[in-house]
Amino acid sequence: MIFETSTRGRSLLIGTAGRLGVFATITFAALAAGAQPHELSGKEVVDAVCASCHAMGTKGAPRIGDEKAWAKRASRGLSSLTDSALKGIRGMPAHGGNRNLTDLEIKRGIAYMVNQSGGKWVEPINRKFPPADRTGEQVVKAQCIKCHQAGSGGAPRIGDREAWIPRLKEGLDVTVRSAIKGHGGMPARGGLADLTDTELRGAILYLFRGPQAK
Ligand code: HEC
Ligand code: HEC
Repeated sequence: MIFETSTRGRSLLIGTAGRLGVFATITFAALAAGAQPHELSGKEVVDAVCASCHAMGTKGAPRIGDEKAWAKRASRGLSSLTDSALKGIRGMPAHGGNRNLTDLEIKRGIAYMVNQSGGKWVEPINRKFPPADRTGEQVVKAQCIKCHQAGSGGAPRIGDREAWIPRLKEGLDVTVRSAIKGHGGMPARGGLADLTDTELRGAILYLFRGPQAK
């Protein structure tokens, strides 16, 4: 199996082969001068590195999706889990066996696995290099549209003011807070863990106004 994911500043190539298990080669393209480092998302980290054990529960690894196995560990909190993932614990190699992963990427990988296993964690963002804010329109088209276009699961539709007005009657701040937490069919931060509060606010305004009014 060859798995490739390329991201803004670097590319990652993973090949798995052979009796010895998994060989992973990670090549990082030189970062363009001055470019902010691009850190992998939790999903990218897990697909590329952690899944080789955590997908099937190899060597006693808590399996992704095994809510019982993860709930117990998740109750210890992200710092404690990160600590053991960085150092390694029994069958779990330090850094998941990949030294190129930053601490932040490890944390995101953990949060992603916890979330795939019944948890509701938010993947941490890099506070030194906050991503440039995406506009409300960009966020909605990339993500919120998945449910808010067709109104899946009772999601108020884009530009359907009648549906949105009662949601906004307590004020925009209250609605933003509600979207941060998520409720019912609405996932926390609309399912985009790295969405900033500002981006979320812009997205909600776009959902309310719709594409016509700019
Ligand atoms: C070579 C197999 C392997 C790989 C690759 C691997 N893990 Fe693990 N992991 C394990 C095993 C086995 C355990 C169970 C250790 C134990 O508690 O005995 C574990 C446990 C964990 C735990 C729970 C630690 C605790 O304190 O309970 C976390 C968190 C974790 N892994 C994160 C990761 C992340 C993040 C990655 C990818 C970056 C990763 N693992 C990659 C095998 C692996
Ligand atoms: C997986 C489907 C899904 C996605 C993706 C999604 N939503 Fe929702 N959203 C819903 C559903 C369903 C509701 C209605 C939930 C309810 O009231 O029980 C909802 C409700 C909301 C509300 C109203 C909250 C309230 O307190 O009444 C806001 C605001 C919102 N979504 C914003 C967003 C934004 C912004 C995005 C994109 C970043 C997004 N949603 C992505 C399904 C989704």
